Amino acid sequence: TGGGTTAAAGAGYPEQNITIVVPFSAGGPTDTVTRLIATPMAAKLGGKIVVQNVEGAGGTVGAGEVSRAEADGYTVLMHHIGMSTAPALYQNLGYQPVESFETIGLVTEVPMTIVARKDFEPKTLQELVTYVKANSGKVTLANAGIGAASHLCGLLFQSATGVKLQEVPYEGTGPALTDLVGGQVDFMCDQTTNTSGQITAGEVKAYAVTTPERVKSLPDLPTTTEGGLPDLKVSVWHGLYAPKGTPKEVVQKLSEALQAALVDQKVIDQMAKLGTAPVPAADATPQAHLTKLQEQLGTWAKVIADAGVKAS
Ligand code: MLT
Repeated sequence: TGGGTTAAAGAGYPEQNITIVVPFSAGGPTDTVTRLIATPMAAKLGGKIVVQNVEGAGGTVGAGEVSRAEADGYTVLMHHIGMSTAPALYQNLGYQPVESFETIGLVTEVPMTIVARKDFEPKTLQELVTYVKANSGKVTLANAGIGAASHLCGLLFQSATGVKLQEVPYEGTGPALTDLVGGQVDFMCDQTTNTSGQITAGEVKAYAVTTPERVKSLPDLPTTTEGGLPDLKVSVWHGLYAPKGTPKEVVQKLSEALQAALVDQKVIDQMAKLGTAPVPAADATPQAHLTKLQEQLGTWAKVIADAGVKAS
């Protein structure tokens, strides 16, 4: 199916609640961004949006569920960079990023941070590198499962340092961060939308941000380049998806609602506090999102093949 073609398709949309599926735990970074935009999106649409967490397998369980949902605009998916890494990691994914979904628009691109439990020995990124090399057998690295952004960033860290660490998977970095604060795991790489609060409160130790420039809301945190790991650069782009075949008029309405949410001052301010920003309006469109997805699928397929990682 190639999307609805009649002008009437979706004319009355929305006529019932819209569910946005978040493929990771409640309280984590994807959930936070989704809940931020859900209210202004709902206001623009004149309907109600419900956020539902369908976690598991690095975001692939929730994405799979939405790929099989009715293509009527009432079930949509918030996903991130993991949409572009999963095909290279999973042999039996059960969906295809481009073929199984309609892109609605990009949302935000979030810097990542390398953070550790408060009492973890290394004090700087350079010390962390030395420490993990000397203690690779016992250091634990948390992530949100294979295909998660935290997993990808951890992979880049291990490639950049040449060490293989013991990875501890969670269903989202929300619970992973709780364990990090509690001292049950040593360190992880996670988005500023999740870690900013704990970094500022001094509940975790922060080593670096993974962007070329420092993050405004965390001005004291050096970049990975400043810290001696210039190859470790990644930021986590997010986008909204509908099942393939969702009427074009409905996708258009969702895209316009997304654009409205991204210029909402509350959204801009909240994102800024969390170290990120909405994408420009021109990127909150189906075409810009599709272009980004296709480019990223190519980029990560190569990186992951070179790293020799597979989930199944
Ligand atoms: C989450 O929402 O828990 C994260 O986006 C997980 C991740 O991708 O690292």
